[in-house]
Amino acid sequence: MVKVDKFINESIGKIRNDVKGRAIIALSGGVDSSVCAVLAHRAIGDMLTPIYIDTGLMRKCETENIQRIFSGMNLQVIDGKEYFLNALKGLTDPEEKRKAIGKAFIRVFEEEARKLDAKYLIQGTIYPDRIESEGGIKSHHNVGGLPSVIDFEGIIEPLADLYKDEVREVARALELPHEISDRMPFPGPGLAVRIIGEVTEDKVEIVREANAIVEEELLEQFKPWQTFAALIEKGTGVKGDVRVHGWIIAVRAVQSRDGMTAEAMELPWETLQKIESRITSEIANVSRVLYDITPKPPGTIEFE
Ligand code: XMP
Repeated sequence: MVKVDKFINESIGKIRNDVKGRAIIALSGGVDSSVCAVLAHRAIGDMLTPIYIDTGLMRKCETENIQRIFSGMNLQVIDGKEYFLNALKGLTDPEEKRKAIGKAFIRVFEEEARKLDAKYLIQGTIYPDRIESEGGIKSHHNVGGLPSVIDFEGIIEPLADLYKDEVREVARALELPHEISDRMPFPGPGLAVRIIGEVTEDKVEIVREANAIVEEELLEQFKPWQTFAALIEKGTGVKGDVRVHGWIIAVRAVQSRDGMTAEAMELPWETLQKIESRITSEIANVSRVLYDITPKPPGTIEFE
């Protein structure tokens, strides 16, 4: 605890020392950017503007939750739903989708930064983000890009040397709510990596509902490292006595230490049946639910 307190005090001091004008931070609602926002707010108060972009690819109620949790800050909520959906139109390749989302983030964020005349950028990059990006494992939309487009006087990354569990410890010490400090990871590109192929508004709505059901059924009771639903493709089913061509939803629940490897969880059959039953009855046009038993490797945790 002493170490955590020391880290918090030193970070606040460093931010206060380094930031000499208006600063912004992209707040995603994940533990990293939330911790950064709180540290920076403690350091420079209203000289910080956290910007939350609603990409339309967020989980159910995410925007409302962020507004509630960060109500004490000068938070700006930007509605980017249409912009992101347009940017993704026609794209089916996973890497192209990621890049389009990264680019859209930069565009929207850049516009807001210009309006605010912000000179400093605070980022929640953590140590593994840097390693993954440098190693070229996948294009990580949280890293890179921004600094080269906007002429910031300073870029501050207070968590750059921390691992995820250390960030969580800091979050608890800062008294962020549990829903933030113990939150399972959520990918930067959001629900887009949980939709195979082109992202459309209809598909996002379906996968968002399916994710909410999976979280309700599994999070509290089974404490997975990560759990979610993904929309795969269409397959034949019967609803009433009519054959339909409905969506296939895959459910994933994994245990992992750091996301680099993962094991599928062995869930009780009744739990899986309940999830299947809720998804196919509560969401229109879903005719099939699968449970993914693939470990990582050879699979990845997300579907794209
Ligand atoms: P994969 O699917 O590569 O995911 O096994 C490993 C972990 O990383 C998360 N993930 C991301 N997180 N930006 C992020 O911030 C991304 O682009 C991204 N892609 C995957 C994923 O949810 C899992 O926890």
